[in-house]
Amino acid sequence: MDLSTTYLGLDLPHPLMTGASPLVDRLDLVRRLEDAGAAAITMHSLFEEQILLERAARYSQYDEHAESFAEALSFFPNPDEYHLGPDEYLEQIRRIKAMVDVPVIASLNGQTGSGWVDYAKLMQQAGADAIELNVYFLATDPLETGTAIEDRVVAIAASVKQAVSMPVAIKLSPFFSSVANLAYRLDQAGVDGVVLFNRFYQPDIDVESLDVAPRLQLSDSSELLMRVRWLAILSGRIRASLAASGGVHTGLDAVKAVMAGAHATQLVSTLLHHGPAQLKKIHDEMIHWMEDHEYESLRQMQGSMSLLRCPDPAAFERANYTRILQTWRV
Ligand SMILES: Cc1cc2nc3c(=O)[nH]c(=O)nc-3n(C[C@H](O)[C@H](O)[C@H](O)COP(=O)(O)O)c2cc1C
Repeated sequence: MDLSTTYLGLDLPHPLMTGASPLVDRLDLVRRLEDAGAAAITMHSLFEEQILLERAARYSQYDEHAESFAEALSFFPNPDEYHLGPDEYLEQIRRIKAMVDVPVIASLNGQTGSGWVDYAKLMQQAGADAIELNVYFLATDPLETGTAIEDRVVAIAASVKQAVSMPVAIKLSPFFSSVANLAYRLDQAGVDGVVLFNRFYQPDIDVESLDVAPRLQLSDSSELLMRVRWLAILSGRIRASLAASGGVHTGLDAVKAVMAGAHATQLVSTLLHHGPAQLKKIHDEMIHWMEDHEYESLRQMQGSMSLLRCPDPAAFERANYTRILQTWRV
């Protein structure tokens, strides 16, 4: 079975790659991921705040504003709580690249883009094959418009794209007024891939201690459906490649994502839960399903359920919405 695909211009033997996670912080796990057949490896993010904190520490004795700036960063983990510091991160790229043959995608996670775009260059110099930008930002300012936020996301992507020659992917949140328009603008800005979607972790309230309790809950397959919807809407409408991130746990999940238009699927929760060997299991499930359904190649299936030929995807979605509400009988 030919499962080959092209993601960010990288030729991959199949679409199953790892998503950004701490799995790559340990070299023994990276080795096991490659042995289990990962088509590519995405690194844990380097966070904008780590870079800013390091700069604040470096310049604190010269800069009169450094103290208040460092105070603003005090909500964030201490530098030693991050898995890898900025320099260690670059070293980790070099180590992973020396160890594996599959493409290695570095990840930068931030919200302003100022001061950390240079790191994209350093990641490229360290050997990364591509970079994924995660602009994780929750809009809380009532005076800031959606357009201003989207302009910032596009500006960050464009400035990184300008700084490096390697492919650039951007991992989006689903919470934009028009995901389609933002993806289109990013495509126009030259971004090579769009990753759908970032996962938001909803903090809980501890009613006893009156504290905010951040909780990390792994995904399940139900999260895939929102990705499938947007893959199907964007597939064929933008030049950039598409990756599904969120809710891929089985071979059938991966098949659905590919049918909707994914060029790659990123796995995290299932690997954290079951270990690297899960990659091979999902790969084999995909092959069995495709053989049973007489597919000859992944490309034959890719985008077959996209909404590209649908004359009005918005009307189609609304029709599904109204139909589903009528299915519940009391
Ligand atoms: C423990 C953990 C750490 C993660 N770290 C990052 C990260 O550093 N950068 C990032 O963009 N996404 C990060 N993610 C999000 C994943 O890359 C992925 O988008 C999300 O888990 C959805 O995929 P899944 O359903 O396969 O878990 C992390 C997820 C988990 C569970």
